[in-house]
Amino acid sequence: MKSEIRNPRSKMDTPLVLAIETSCDETAVALLRNRDELLISKIASQSAIHERYGGVVPEVASRNHLIKLPVLVESAFADAGVRLADVDCVAATRGPGLLTSLLVGYAAAKGIAIGLRKPFIGVNHLEAHLLSPFFNDPAGTQPSVGLIVSGGHTQLVSMEAIGQYRILGSTLDDAAGEAFDKVAKLLGLPYPGGPNIERCAQGGDPARFDLPRGMLGSGDFNFSFSGLKTAVRYLLPKLSGDYQADLCASFQEAVVQVLVRKTIAAAKSVAVQTVTVSGGVSGNLRLRQEMERAAIAAGINLRLAAPALTTDNAAMIAFVAGERFRSGSFTACTQDADPNLKLV
Ligand code: KG4
Ligand code: ZN
Repeated sequence: MKSEIRNPRSKMDTPLVLAIETSCDETAVALLRNRDELLISKIASQSAIHERYGGVVPEVASRNHLIKLPVLVESAFADAGVRLADVDCVAATRGPGLLTSLLVGYAAAKGIAIGLRKPFIGVNHLEAHLLSPFFNDPAGTQPSVGLIVSGGHTQLVSMEAIGQYRILGSTLDDAAGEAFDKVAKLLGLPYPGGPNIERCAQGGDPARFDLPRGMLGSGDFNFSFSGLKTAVRYLLPKLSGDYQADLCASFQEAVVQVLVRKTIAAAKSVAVQTVTVSGGVSGNLRLRQEMERAAIAAGINLRLAAPALTTDNAAMIAFVAGERFRSGSFTACTQDADPNLKLV
């Protein structure tokens, strides 16, 4: 009788990744096994803390990461039913972000990796957002144009394959999420502004106020949102009565139109069949609807980040780290966090 040779899948194929994300004001931890098994993804939001300041206060954010992270890591393992010793690699966001926030998660992850004698992987936050529409489906990655639209960034990126990126355009001033946050503040709506403007816009008339569509006709793939914010600032003192829902809807529509048109134009310019949209603002339902409509009209496939993966989270960090682990590209523990880290 032939003896059976068992060939268990190697750890390289099925790693258990512990990932930590602390680039801004969300403390997040995830455990991802084997590309598609998200054992846990936990986010401790600090929104309620920063709300009273109308935005993120870096010193306060880092102190809260310090308090929340150890508790979150411990509860992640308890809830996922795995042990620290089961982990094959430890990852953390290396940048971009607030340096004092980044340092908390980055130093903690390095410490855990060193203690476990396991590889450490520093992940670019922008790459994690960019790849989040391919979460669970890395085989599905293909040449595409990705719109990363968050509080810190608005970028159009051409992707050949994982790790091969080219920037097609970026915002020249405010990021789209930043514009949502600043306009919300002008309107007296709480931080973070994006979801609150979206809520306020429900039932509003998006055509009531004719707001500028910055750089819509610029012929390139750059963005500008500061003129839109200024237009709202100058309009506000002239308004009275019931205008908030209409103003929110008009503002949202201006942002959405620019993002959708430029993204589809960028995809056509590099002749790709797929467009992805990710980052905090990609949770906006009006943006999702309009992207879908425009993609269908242009005959382009659309991959939107799953709603749970739009705002900052550690699952997307774990996903990138898993890909790096498989290719054996680890990060030296001597490498520091970088608040200005670029995608390319
Ligand atoms: O990706 P993210 O969590 O953090 C950064 O990497 O910046 O994005 C946060 C941004 C904030 O500016 C927030 O107002 C915006 O995303 N945002 C939204 C929505 N949800 C979050 N903007 C518009 N509509 C939303 N539903
Ligand atoms: Zn982000």
